[in-house]
Amino acid sequence: MKFNQKKILVALTSLYVGFASAQNTTKLKVGLMLPYSGTYASLGNAIENGFQLYVKEQGGKIGGREIELVKVDDESEPSKATDNINKLIKRDNVDLVVGSVHSGVAMAMAKVAKDTGTLLIVPNAGADAITGPMCAKNIYRTSFTNWQPGFAMGEQAAKNGIKKVITVTWKYAAGEESVKGFKEGFEKNGGTISKELTVPFPNVEFQSLLTEIAAAKPDAVYAFFAGAGAVKFVKDYAAAGLNRSIPLYGPGFLTDGTLEAQGAAANGMLTTLHYADGLNNKRDAAFRLAYVKAYKMQPDVYAVQGYDAAQLLAIGLNATKGDVSKKAEFEDAILKAKIDSPRGTITISKSHNPIQDIYLREVVGKENKFKSVASKSLADPARGCNL
Ligand code: BEZ
Repeated sequence: MKFNQKKILVALTSLYVGFASAQNTTKLKVGLMLPYSGTYASLGNAIENGFQLYVKEQGGKIGGREIELVKVDDESEPSKATDNINKLIKRDNVDLVVGSVHSGVAMAMAKVAKDTGTLLIVPNAGADAITGPMCAKNIYRTSFTNWQPGFAMGEQAAKNGIKKVITVTWKYAAGEESVKGFKEGFEKNGGTISKELTVPFPNVEFQSLLTEIAAAKPDAVYAFFAGAGAVKFVKDYAAAGLNRSIPLYGPGFLTDGTLEAQGAAANGMLTTLHYADGLNNKRDAAFRLAYVKAYKMQPDVYAVQGYDAAQLLAIGLNATKGDVSKKAEFEDAILKAKIDSPRGTITISKSHNPIQDIYLREVVGKENKFKSVASKSLADPARGCNL
């Protein structure tokens, strides 16, 4: 090879390397698959608000790329979930998907994400399997597993001297796994579950269940409901007079984002969750101020999870210069990160689920007041995940 040819080859090679490691500055298309109608509509809206707030705080760009949202109302309907996410990926050509709230919907999404290699960030749905047997390099969660707050409340109830509990939930993965987590923490510490009651999702006809609870007189009830269903259950429980004699416990979804509507019916309730009012950290104070300014309402746990979904995406994309296909570098950055969440600092486990404090909260007026740390740095056991 002549000297000039060699020079040209070296120049071309460095040009290619330059391109390969350059910042991607094209728009980043994010599929936002959330419930904007039905019993979980307020949860979907809060997640989007949180996500958008973080993006706005970064000047509209994540990992150097302007964000374009493509939104789908998934209606919390698992039977439509596969079609909905496939449309986002194949028709709309999104770069990644953020969603959803309902565990059944999210499990269908996780299957498609795994099969197609599409980056998926779950900002709520707690289905244990997503960071258990279905775990994958391209699937992350910024919320919780259904097991986490349930397990913490099981331990707490036993500590409070409760011996016999009736559980009640919608009959689908989230409620069943929440009850399973509760049962594990409770029975390990000497408690007994005397009855497990269920009602189909999103049914809110609770009268016969309440009659059964009143007749059985357990020491306490553990309930999983969220959104509009949680409002109805807590109000019906109080209207039946049960809150005066049988304490109602639950994961914090029972009272988060719902207190305005529940009013005095929720007063004094104890719940466990990875967020609370009165956490007194700087990040939360700034987040709340910005959220109230932007949306004229207080944030809830769902808004925090949406905010952190954007934050997690930024950590990954800053490390890959905006390239979603660099999965190993993306993961490496996230596993090393200490994420400064409004809920307190969290890390992401090898199975891609938050390791986080679970707080004991008490409803005082319109607030889920922080009482204590029920479980410090609680990691989901991630049973069946082989990452
Ligand atoms: C779920 O389906 O995983 C879920 C829905 C609402 C609140 C918490 C969990």
